[in-house]
Amino acid sequence: MKVEQLFTGCLAEMAYYIESNGEAAIIDPLRETDPYIRMAQADKAEIKYIFLTHFHADFVSGQYDLAQKTGATIIFGPNAKADYDIYIAKDGEEFPLGEISLKLLHTPGHTMESSSLVLIDKDGNTPYLFSGDALFIGDVGRPDLAVKSDLTQADLASHLFDSLRNKIMNLPDDIIVYPNHGAGSACGKNMSSETFDTLGNQKKTNYALRADMTRQEFIKEVTTGLKTPPQYFPNNVRMNKTINTSIDEVLHRGTTPLDAATFKELSEQRDVLVIDTRSKETYTLEGTVPGAWFIGLDGSFAPWVGALITDIDQKIIFIAEDETRVNEIAVRFSRVGYDNTLGYLFGGMKNWVDHGYEVDKINSISAAQFARRLAEGTMEKPLDVRKESEYISQHIIGVENFPLDFIHSNFAEIDPEKEYFLHCESGYRSLVAASIFKANGIEKVCDVRGGFDDIIETDAPVSEYVCPTTLL
Ligand SMILES: [Fe+2]
Repeated sequence: MKVEQLFTGCLAEMAYYIESNGEAAIIDPLRETDPYIRMAQADKAEIKYIFLTHFHADFVSGQYDLAQKTGATIIFGPNAKADYDIYIAKDGEEFPLGEISLKLLHTPGHTMESSSLVLIDKDGNTPYLFSGDALFIGDVGRPDLAVKSDLTQADLASHLFDSLRNKIMNLPDDIIVYPNHGAGSACGKNMSSETFDTLGNQKKTNYALRADMTRQEFIKEVTTGLKTPPQYFPNNVRMNKTINTSIDEVLHRGTTPLDAATFKELSEQRDVLVIDTRSKETYTLEGTVPGAWFIGLDGSFAPWVGALITDIDQKIIFIAEDETRVNEIAVRFSRVGYDNTLGYLFGGMKNWVDHGYEVDKINSISAAQFARRLAEGTMEKPLDVRKESEYISQHIIGVENFPLDFIHSNFAEIDPEKEYFLHCESGYRSLVAASIFKANGIEKVCDVRGGFDDIIETDAPVSEYVCPTTLL
């Protein structure tokens, strides 16, 4: 028997590969299909089942394409409804896999079809629980994403209370909990950076599993402090219930090399968006194509794509650090449903520069220069683009909060006559924000290198520290 946790940092997502005696099951696969097929081939196994713990909101899962390629059965829990063939398991139904089996437990609450899976080994032991978004390490799935006119957050939280108490907490204390998400995911509010734990330890440490907690206390705790979900979530839920363009077709188009002249022509079209995916160092040093947004691959790339690009069908062309990463970039766009990538700048920025085309650069200053100018009062508009919770936790006195997450809805507040100085925590988000300022015609924008991490090393005045967990 083999159980592998497949962690994707950018989405803080965990898919699972389980194999026994030539039969394999995948739980919560990402959009791409090749990694799972390769794993099964290496084990000379056949993928028999694709389990979905629920319809995901934060990524597009690849069950349809994977089932088409492997002949595997797609299995959801009760209440699931999709536009393609699925098998709807009953609560408690067991699925034999080689010498083991997987038993589905209906654990509604995060969503109404949410389910968990218990692995039963050949000796009848239950070493693993795949808990989906019902139970995370240190948290539980948020109950606000599947709200309907006849189903409130409180109703969903109440279902989750029953699922945890009646289906999960009575499993053996030594069962290993393997959740679908870890720290950084917007599917919960306070997840641990650990990716698994025993149920017994979670009963001691997870606020939502406290033994003497009443239903009302539970509902209050899990519904308090939830942040507005990213704007792309409903689109991804919709895509997960329907048949989408095949991943092979998306990647074929998305990895088209575009010569500099074609790239330039496309970049000047109003309905095409250029995304520069290079490192923040290369982007700052070499400059970019006018109008491009910076969303570097080496950050929370897919969640920022989803949060900032408001049209899921947006035509996108992109700049890559090097050509070996082009396929990965198209995959990472499609993981959050951005399937309309048209290609990349062949030969990179060097090719663009060699053609003599205009290059756009973001001005920047060091943290020390920022602190000095703040003290002198010579900066018109210093802004902190971190989340509101980070800002409240601690910020530089005299700097307003302008969260990157809400840059579009708050953009009317930006005065094109003023000069802006943007900082975040470490310099990634401020560059994203600065690039969007520029793309929107705000020419006087300056990035603060190293962000808050570097600014607090200067003598700039900081507010009193408030522990972030007390803000939940
Ligand atoms: Fe979820």
